[in-house]
Amino acid sequence: MNEELPLSGRVAAVTGAANGLGATEAAALAAAGARLVLNDLPGAALDGVADKIRASGGEAVLCPGDVAEWSTGQELVRRAVESYGGLDILVNNAGVLRDRMVFSMSEQEWDAVIRVHLRGHFVTTRFATAYWRDRSKTTGAPVYARIVNTSSEAFLLGSAGQPNYAAAKGGIVALTVSTARGCARYGVRANAICPRARTAMTGDLMGPAPQGPDPMAPERVAPLVTVLAGPAGARITGEVFVVHSDVVAVLGPPTVRAAFHAADGQWSAAALDAALAPLFSGYPPQPGFVCEETLPLAPATFGEEA
Ligand SMILES: NC(=O)c1ccc[n+]([C@@H]2O[C@H](COP(=O)([O-])OP(=O)(O)OC[C@H]3O[C@@H](n4cnc5c(N)ncnc54)[C@H](O)[C@@H]3O)[C@@H](O)[C@H]2O)c1
Repeated sequence: MNEELPLSGRVAAVTGAANGLGATEAAALAAAGARLVLNDLPGAALDGVADKIRASGGEAVLCPGDVAEWSTGQELVRRAVESYGGLDILVNNAGVLRDRMVFSMSEQEWDAVIRVHLRGHFVTTRFATAYWRDRSKTTGAPVYARIVNTSSEAFLLGSAGQPNYAAAKGGIVALTVSTARGCARYGVRANAICPRARTAMTGDLMGPAPQGPDPMAPERVAPLVTVLAGPAGARITGEVFVVHSDVVAVLGPPTVRAAFHAADGQWSAAALDAALAPLFSGYPPQPGFVCEETLPLAPATFGEEA
């Protein structure tokens, strides 16, 4: 074990680790010294990621299974404890898309996306935080515990063709902040990233990689995950980051844009109508609770040439 690496001695579980961002983040955590528990649906791709990590001198065990299953969350923590004696880092990354406009979406398309993303984040978080809380109560001190969740700018934008995905990713941000608050005293730090990367999920949208360095390579996202999982992550919790290309942006929380107080203590509909009118004078209205500031952060945004 190389003691000088930032994650030396740490144990990290990564969901959806067989491909794309998860595979890259797992490799980066291993390169930073962590021992890995890799989750994804069973298959050769997951074995391949573990083989690569081992070939580079790292350690990896597998925990295949549907991340939204209660038993998979339980098994993820059990594998970490059995194989390495504990768990320090949980990277929730597994995901699927079933894009469709809200008026055409099937029950199955809605359920599948909410299940894998939102329930999938919850189930692993449930068992990891229970483990950390127990450890903290046993030792009487906060433990080393990091959660990196995966949200998306689809939530920030209210992506029109992805009502299921945008809702799941919004839920993940709320889960992240709730976890950060609820588990802080045990040492848990929980943050969310909104990545952009050229993967199987986004290949159709982004097209083929350019010649030379790819600004949308998943490798551009992995350093933030390594930092949040590492010692510096002790001072960061309940935050949401946008990360891709050469940029890492820290989002601010939602703010109160305007507040209206009734002159006589209680609004009538007519008085409220008159009070709100100046703020909502444009027509047709554009969605207001939307963050578009992240779009131009780097030149290589969706749909633009890198
Ligand atoms: N690529 C992007 O630009 C982008 C943008 C925003 C958010 N994200 C998020 O990043 C994460 C990774 O996406 P990606 O681009 O690497 O996609 P990807 O399709 O390459 O990888 C997703 C992985 O999740 C696995 N997975 C799916 N369902 C699972 C389940 N039930 N249990 C366990 N594993 C399961 C898949 O097998 C796959 O290996 C997702 O949460 C995605 O929503 C990606």
